[in-house]
Amino acid sequence: MKINFTNKPAQKGAVCVAIFADNKFSDAANAIDSDSGRSIRKAMETARFSGKAGQVIQILAPVGISASSIIVAGVGEQNNDMSLAWESYGAAVTKKLLTSGVNLITFVIGDLEGTYAAKIAFGARLAAYRFDNHRTKLSADKKPSVTSICICGSKSDAAKEAFSSLNELAEGVYLARDLVSEPGNIINPESFAKCISGLSDNGLEIEILDEKDMRKLGMNSLLSVGAGSNYGSKLAIMKWMGGKTGDAPVVLVGKGVTFDTGGISLKPGNGMWDMKGDMGGAAAVTGAMRAIAGRKAKANVIGIVGLVENMPDAAATRPGDIIKSADGQTIEVQNTDAEGRLVLVDALWYGINSFKPCRIIDLATLTGAILVALGQENAGLFSNDDHLANDLTVAGKISGEEVWRLPLGSGYDKLIDTPNADMKNIGGPFAGSITAAQFLKRFVGEVPWAHIDIAGMAWKDKRDDPRESVWATGFGVRLLDSFIANSHEQ
Ligand code: BES
Ligand code: ZN
Ligand code: ZN
Repeated sequence: MKINFTNKPAQKGAVCVAIFADNKFSDAANAIDSDSGRSIRKAMETARFSGKAGQVIQILAPVGISASSIIVAGVGEQNNDMSLAWESYGAAVTKKLLTSGVNLITFVIGDLEGTYAAKIAFGARLAAYRFDNHRTKLSADKKPSVTSICICGSKSDAAKEAFSSLNELAEGVYLARDLVSEPGNIINPESFAKCISGLSDNGLEIEILDEKDMRKLGMNSLLSVGAGSNYGSKLAIMKWMGGKTGDAPVVLVGKGVTFDTGGISLKPGNGMWDMKGDMGGAAAVTGAMRAIAGRKAKANVIGIVGLVENMPDAAATRPGDIIKSADGQTIEVQNTDAEGRLVLVDALWYGINSFKPCRIIDLATLTGAILVALGQENAGLFSNDDHLANDLTVAGKISGEEVWRLPLGSGYDKLIDTPNADMKNIGGPFAGSITAAQFLKRFVGEVPWAHIDIAGMAWKDKRDDPRESVWATGFGVRLLDSFIANSHEQ
């Protein structure tokens, strides 16, 4: 999709104007309404339009203007920061028109701020994402018709400038969505690692550890998860050192279980196919690193993803097996389906040991229990550091990818004790997301650390947010990018 910013008046294709809550007209809407014989006001009445966010109506073949249709869309209440409102506006319009037959959408925005204009284009890109790679029989009328977006307003230079970073962010979100959407026979630890190697073209320094390297380092916890797989487990490291030389980096860690069968503690068959998305944390970290490098962030950031496939096999880890992690602690694996934490602790160890980070943050589709607690509205946040938790909460609000903090504590920690080893990899029947976080906490020492459980957010069957256009959301890319921009680049 081509995106173009111009300050020359344009009334080509479908011309889109904004209406605020309670039908407050933008100047552009007023102008087009009077040029077109008050067609906007008439259409709004018949459609019960009120300017609410998400409302979109199309007036076909209008008279008095050269556009093929007029799109009237709601932006909602006006307030101090309209960034997300304009993003959703761009997304809602694009979603409505994507396969409608319209080729060009011209957003007429008058003197709207350049940063807001850029957000319209960003929202349009989020909504235009498709995952059609494997559809060979898609009929012509189901394919996207929109090929260009034109944002027409007086502040087009500022808009263009602001959009160049957001466009990189959109590329990061697209990458994460692609990775999550692709099935386990296409994205496996080896192909995922290869994809990451390709990101050196985007300015990232890449290093890939294979099983031999990890065995030497004693990363038996991560390796135990991939023991039943035909694919070699990998640890992929992506470096972006755009900050001051010598400044300790932020390390981002992702769970990359490319398919989670549960292993010997096999999952039920129904719905198991969703577990192709169990690398959503790794996809978010990879997408965020792609975005951070793309916009040349002035920060030192290192992404580390643990890539494994969790399969039942004669060589697979058994329930009851005891393994030793890279930092020397022993783990009784009581349930091979609680594998994400086993991957993460060795990846966290590697990040802390190799890079001495100022902060370390992991993202993972870790527990079904987080869906019970928070549904699909917030990711679960756990942290040993209030300042870090606060920075991530703020980044969530800014980006629209929100997190909600849950507690940690010694009472929960006790639940993963076992007489057979230093700890077991499951707690009891209660507080499953917290006991998983307590497990991770035993491996991070004093380093400011946050764990974000995105099991409810990495994919969604519901399609009510126009920015989340398909099953895979790419959740975490925008959150991490905002976090770096707001907390590590000023
Ligand atoms: N990958 C799953 C968690 C998950 C569940 C992600 C639903 C997305 C949607 C994880 O590896 C897992 O299986 N966790 C178990 C832990 C249990 C065995 C302690 C779970 O949540 O049931
Ligand atoms: Zn599992
Ligand atoms: Zn899993």
